[in-house]
Amino acid sequence: MKLIYLISLLFLSSCFSYKVLIFNPAYGSSHSNFLGKLADILIDGGHNVTMLIPTYLSNKRNQPGSKKVKHIVEIGQDERTWKIFEEGQVEEIVKTKIWTMDPEMMSLFSIVGRMNVGIGYQCEYIFKQTEILEQLRNENFDLAITESLFLCPFALFDHIGIKTVINADSNLFKDAVKYAHGEPAAIGYYPGLFSPNGDKMSFVARVKNLITMLFTKYLFGSRYEQELKTIKPYYNGTKSWTELVSNVAFYFINSNKYLDYASPTLPKTVFVGGMQVTTNKKKQN
Ligand SMILES: *[C@@H]1O[C@H](CO)[C@@H](O)[C@H](O)[C@H]1NC(C)=O
Ligand SMILES: *[C@@H]1O[C@H](CO)[C@@H](O)[C@H](O)[C@H]1NC(C)=O
Repeated sequence: MKLIYLISLLFLSSCFSYKVLIFNPAYGSSHSNFLGKLADILIDGGHNVTMLIPTYLSNKRNQPGSKKVKHIVEIGQDERTWKIFEEGQVEEIVKTKIWTMDPEMMSLFSIVGRMNVGIGYQCEYIFKQTEILEQLRNENFDLAITESLFLCPFALFDHIGIKTVINADSNLFKDAVKYAHGEPAAIGYYPGLFSPNGDKMSFVARVKNLITMLFTKYLFGSRYEQELKTIKPYYNGTKSWTELVSNVAFYFINSNKYLDYASPTLPKTVFVGGMQVTTNKKKQN
């Protein structure tokens, strides 16, 4: 009798086990950890996760962010990308300025263009790995997950025929993605990604909020456009960046709905803030 239960359980688990591809770019530890944690949760749930790790920054390699994932496919770094990031010390500049972005934001304009070119080359490099892409295509994944740091993963999923995609952002709403989804920016009371303001803003603060929102929309929008332009000869699809980014099943935000500022969102925008916290059940008792 027990055996029958066991067999039916096994049968059930194989029924509900999905094959998942996670595109986890080597770009920053917090980003890698976020997607790695998602991988661990899926693996605990009995799903089969493959992690694709292309190198965007050479010193961020070997950080899958996951303790459990076994299938890892690595892709190296494009030499031109390496040169641009190394020579321009883009890593250093981004690291020192990203958290104090507001007052010094304008100085970033000059490096954004070069950064975009480097990121575009890296996407081209990924699309040139035809053998790896063919293998991934033949895996027939049920689901793909990535973060909208780059457009490359979304174009890649489309290219290799993965229909169901989740965008899981390790930070808050990206203004460019919000725009692509058609969610209202609500500049009057909703602070943009890099805005230092709260939801009660003076007129001047609202104008500044608009400018920071436009800046982050430009930051990611121009990057996505450059990537699409660079992969044009290789990319099999015809979708625009707004279609690629908004045509997802869910948009995960690393925030808590009850703590965050209120804003109009679509039902597919899901707040997953706190999922990385490991709760110790014993302590609570
Ligand atoms: C998980 O997926 C990998 C890659 O497709 C495959 O090699 C492996 O056999 C799968 N594992 C299970 C338990 O299905
Ligand atoms: C491009 O798409 C077509 C039709 O979906 C497919 O048959 C072909 O194999 C794809 N080519 C590449 C290089 O992915």
